[in-house]
Amino acid sequence: MKLLEPVRIGRHLLKNRIVMAPLARARGDERRAPKDIVGTYYSQRATAGLIVTEACHVSPTSATRARATANHDAHQTLAWKQVVDAVHAAGGVIFQQIYHVGRKSLLSGMPNGQVPVAPSAIAAYGGIMKEDGLEEFPVPRALALHEIAPIVEDHRQAVRRAGEAGFDGVEILAGNGFLIDQFLRDSTNKRTDSYGGSKENRARFLFEVVDAAIAELGADRVGVRLSPHFRADHIDDSDPVGTFSYVVSELDRRGIAFIHLLEGTSYDNSGDIPLYQRLVKKPSAGGGGAGPRSGEPFLAPILRPLFRGALILNSGYTRDSAEQAVRSGAADAISFGRLYISNPDLPERFRLNAPLTEPDTATYYTNGPEGYIDYPSLGDRVAQVPAA
Ligand SMILES: Cc1cc2nc3c(=O)[nH]c(=O)nc-3n(C[C@H](O)[C@H](O)[C@H](O)COP(=O)(O)O)c2cc1C
Repeated sequence: MKLLEPVRIGRHLLKNRIVMAPLARARGDERRAPKDIVGTYYSQRATAGLIVTEACHVSPTSATRARATANHDAHQTLAWKQVVDAVHAAGGVIFQQIYHVGRKSLLSGMPNGQVPVAPSAIAAYGGIMKEDGLEEFPVPRALALHEIAPIVEDHRQAVRRAGEAGFDGVEILAGNGFLIDQFLRDSTNKRTDSYGGSKENRARFLFEVVDAAIAELGADRVGVRLSPHFRADHIDDSDPVGTFSYVVSELDRRGIAFIHLLEGTSYDNSGDIPLYQRLVKKPSAGGGGAGPRSGEPFLAPILRPLFRGALILNSGYTRDSAEQAVRSGAADAISFGRLYISNPDLPERFRLNAPLTEPDTATYYTNGPEGYIDYPSLGDRVAQVPAA
């Protein structure tokens, strides 16, 4: 299988083209540092060519579900270092995904009763399912012009901390309706200053973050995740082709290692992520989903020629469709999300065409080891067979 062949992505020669997609799993401690089981979980998955961690908050003002992880203080960085050491000891390559959730912060999680911030004061549709029910996203406060540079600086510090923890690189989450995406797309960015209006202005925040990351780690250790078709919280853009062609061309000019494009057909956030639970309409009804709406083109074929770095595609891929995408040259690598929750040895299972385990959605965010580090590898199964 070509999917199992090595590929160079930026500075790293990866042993295969199978990427573990970022998966928030809420296994942090009360100070948003990864618990011990996080190192076990990622090292169990170290046979992936590349692991991209769960999205990690860059600032206390980025606050979603309790026990989500972050990397903005020394306690968290130290805990991440242990995770990275465990993955490296197991032979893995691991990038930290970083983000600020902007308008998708919860009031209950904000320090000192602050109101979440965003490019414009437009609330995200939906909320986060908590033990006591759904907490809706609040109406955010529009950032003043002078408040933007400090948030770029938060990202820079997080990248520096990722380097200190030993991560092989960072992936900047510029999709999924979070802060950078809120700046990029014109339904959530109504600013009239140098960060709003034209696509060049809306992309300014992204490029300031990317340039800071490059200055810290080097372009060949920086990746960016984009999701041009993501509309689950009613974020949208009137010209996705124009906006994202420009973004990708500029990322190409900067020579970053990879673009990770969430552009599938079969992944509907509303079914899987309690973040959007119940309130999100199905793609057919005009919301949700990670694929283009009818009449809108898939962007990967349009964006691919604009970018000379590696293209990682995601969403809804199977062993066979991933192999096909890599063989056809549509992608350099494919990332897998849900399959990686329940199949720690995914490359080996693909190699053998072995059966795959289904993930248990009930334990996605339950903070403990159940449904996290107890999915067996094929080898574990064999070891459990009693001797004849
Ligand atoms: C439980 C869960 C948590 C997720 N957390 C993140 C995240 O932290 N960052 C991110 O960019 N995407 C996140 N995603 C989206 C996945 O990375 C991926 O895009 C999605 O699962 C579709 O890929 P798949 O069809 O291979 O599962 C999450 C998805 C799930 C199911």
